[in-house]
Amino acid sequence: MELKTLSDLEIITTSNSKINEVDFENLTFGTVFTDHMLVCDFENGKWEKPVIKPYAPFLIDPSAKVFHYGQAIFEGMKAFKDEQDDVWLFRPDENFHRFNKSATRMAMPEVPEDVFMGGLHKLLEIEKEWVKKGKGNTLYIRPFMIATGHGVIAAPSQSYRFMIILSPARAYYSGEVKVVIAEHFSRAANGGIGAAKAAGNYSAQFYPTKLANDQGYQQIIWTDDATHTKLEEAGTMNVFFRINDTIYTAPTSERILDGVTRKSVIELAKKENINVEVRSVLVEELIAAAKDGSLKEIFGAGTAAVINPIVGFGYKEEYFELPKIENSMALEIKEKLTNIQYKLAEDTFGWTV
Ligand code: COI
Repeated sequence: MELKTLSDLEIITTSNSKINEVDFENLTFGTVFTDHMLVCDFENGKWEKPVIKPYAPFLIDPSAKVFHYGQAIFEGMKAFKDEQDDVWLFRPDENFHRFNKSATRMAMPEVPEDVFMGGLHKLLEIEKEWVKKGKGNTLYIRPFMIATGHGVIAAPSQSYRFMIILSPARAYYSGEVKVVIAEHFSRAANGGIGAAKAAGNYSAQFYPTKLANDQGYQQIIWTDDATHTKLEEAGTMNVFFRINDTIYTAPTSERILDGVTRKSVIELAKKENINVEVRSVLVEELIAAAKDGSLKEIFGAGTAAVINPIVGFGYKEEYFELPKIENSMALEIKEKLTNIQYKLAEDTFGWTV
């Protein structure tokens, strides 16, 4: 986790912390950032020295490829504070490896482990006061990389900037989440970039999501692009369906993000003897289960949202409300998962770092 030599990292701190201006009880997700950020540039075929410096805007050429071709990737991670004031990450190696997979898919250079992990470790040490104790408080970590090379030729950039910014956060969604099943729009296609955390994957969702919002839904359940018959993801989360006492989620593929929360839910469910099946659920199967009462729960799983129960879904002008149940598997799994994240339960998986 450490940089190979700490002299590889330059640290410029601010004496002007904003922390006392922040209302940690009333945070809108992703809008407040800590005092420092990590920056590391890739120039002339190699990574330069990483720098931790005060959080601030920076200059970038208007012709930079990130603006024209969206050559940009990111990750979402979280830090948690336990009762002893220690700060913990949840499966950070999963994010690191996925980041570099996304980089490869987007023809960007891989970020070295000592820059990503060592830099993050040091940044968190500097910003540990921003991680607040108590369940529900987290520090959301956003590593990202953009193509900074100038020139509007549609070819991979020659220079890049890798950064990590940190944002104190509580819930991602406020209020109930209703989803509509996609009949026309698609999030991803085979051979595309759906499995990468590419910036464009998310902006491509904005327009269909806006249309869904206009109909009273917060998010969309994405279906496969070829037939729109298989249920794939919910908004920016992986999605699980509980039919009777089994939970189902689609297998990862070129179209589906290999979510860290998704795989943790699967592993936790298995350990808790909850039946879990990784297979595609068909739209018609979901409608039939909603009609005969065997559909008990739908929930999204993602780093930002953790586990988010969905209260109902729409399909072709019809709305299906989910039953109010007493023994929610979603909430049971969420409790177990967050207890591990906050070190309130033993981490038998070795997920916390
Ligand atoms: C996350 O869950 O961390 C994500 O990357 C989704 C993002 C749109 C907030």
